[in-house]
Amino acid sequence: MIDFDFTENQLAVRDMARELAARVITPDIQKWDRAQKANPALLPAMAETNLLGFCIPETYGGLGMDYISLGLACEELEYADTSARVILSVHIGLYSLPILTWAGEELKQKYLTPAARGEKIGTFGLTEPAAGSDAVGLQTTAVRDGDHFILNGEKMWISLADVADYFLVFAWTDLEKKKNRDHSGISAFIVEREFEGLTTGSIHGKLGVRAGNTGFISFQDVAVPASNMVYDEGQGFKIAMFCLDQGRYTVAGGSTGLIRACRDACVKYSWERKTFTQPIAEHQLVKQMIANMEAGYEYSRYLWMKAGWLKNQGKRSTKATSLAKWIACREAEEAAANAVQVFGAYGFSDEYPVERYYRNSKGASIYEGTREIHTLMQADYALGIRKDKQLERDLPMVEQ
Ligand code: CAA
Repeated sequence: MIDFDFTENQLAVRDMARELAARVITPDIQKWDRAQKANPALLPAMAETNLLGFCIPETYGGLGMDYISLGLACEELEYADTSARVILSVHIGLYSLPILTWAGEELKQKYLTPAARGEKIGTFGLTEPAAGSDAVGLQTTAVRDGDHFILNGEKMWISLADVADYFLVFAWTDLEKKKNRDHSGISAFIVEREFEGLTTGSIHGKLGVRAGNTGFISFQDVAVPASNMVYDEGQGFKIAMFCLDQGRYTVAGGSTGLIRACRDACVKYSWERKTFTQPIAEHQLVKQMIANMEAGYEYSRYLWMKAGWLKNQGKRSTKATSLAKWIACREAEEAAANAVQVFGAYGFSDEYPVERYYRNSKGASIYEGTREIHTLMQADYALGIRKDKQLERDLPMVEQ
């Protein structure tokens, strides 16, 4: 049965995220965005409200909420600023949920529980200076040395690189397979910031998400215990793709929140601002832009909700997630560009938030699968070239 109502628990999570965003993010976001720095109060506030582990089971220190709640929280955080939603994308989507699904009990106790409690922050390292869409093109290697693997390489465009304590990273453990680009030579590891030879840095001068940390990770002969390999050797590529199924879902939910932010800002402004003796809300071409925002918001929400519904059932959601991510990001870009247009010259200044929405909307059509990758994936599903077979492991089913 299809149910478009949210449960009381889901609404409670939404309200908690909304309240946190209004209290901690919105009042100072212009200042942090201008300074190109993260608000230091945000992570502690997210930890305090249990947002950093709210859809991880209680046995691992989380709140045991469902995946629709995750989508709702992402909407609320990105309504305030994209940088806040990115924290949930990497810490929960790309780090915690994959560890929950793929890691053994010992690793979960050690690396998931502190993350779910908000005591430690996790992130994900797949992308490299010369390997983004072409994930199999990564160059980082992990060579066995007794009971350790020695990691060498560099990861780039990593959200929270300079903040995270734990890194879920991907490296070639079979160098013969690397030569042939056979993905079954890639493995996944959890690496701690404290491991010798690991350094990180921040990337400055970004177009958007300026109040969020984005950086690089460098591995120089980093000795990682073999027991920190996640699941079996050679399964890293599949785990990376699984991570993206969760990360892309959070981006879809967040971008939907960004569309709503554009719509609300435009609705308010268009009743206040008058031209030709009328509020601009009464001009048909302004109405057209607001109508497109309304439509984009509604269908983006249905798409991420469908993906979330599949996840709640423990069913594979790769196709639905890719579609939701692609469409929500596309609509957010259009909504933000039109929001600047509705605000006219004021939209061109950071006196109003729509200029920030516009800059923030661009990145999401690039990270976690470019719009081109998602376009090709959807075409391949339609053409019968791509099919989602049953996965060896999938997200644990959850009660709504
Ligand atoms: N879950 C689990 N397994 C999956 C999977 C999924 N979602 N998708 C694919 N697989 C498995 C397949 O079943 C297949 O297994 P077998 O070989 O056993 O059959 C294997 O993985 C290979 O699958 P494909 O043939 O589908 O892989 P592909 O080579 O066609 O994939 C691609 C191509 C879709 C372009 C993929 O490389 C891709 O998604 N690229 C984009 C990467 C991306 O989004 N990068 C952004 C990272 S975000 C970031 O790094 C920023 C940050 O802040 C952290």
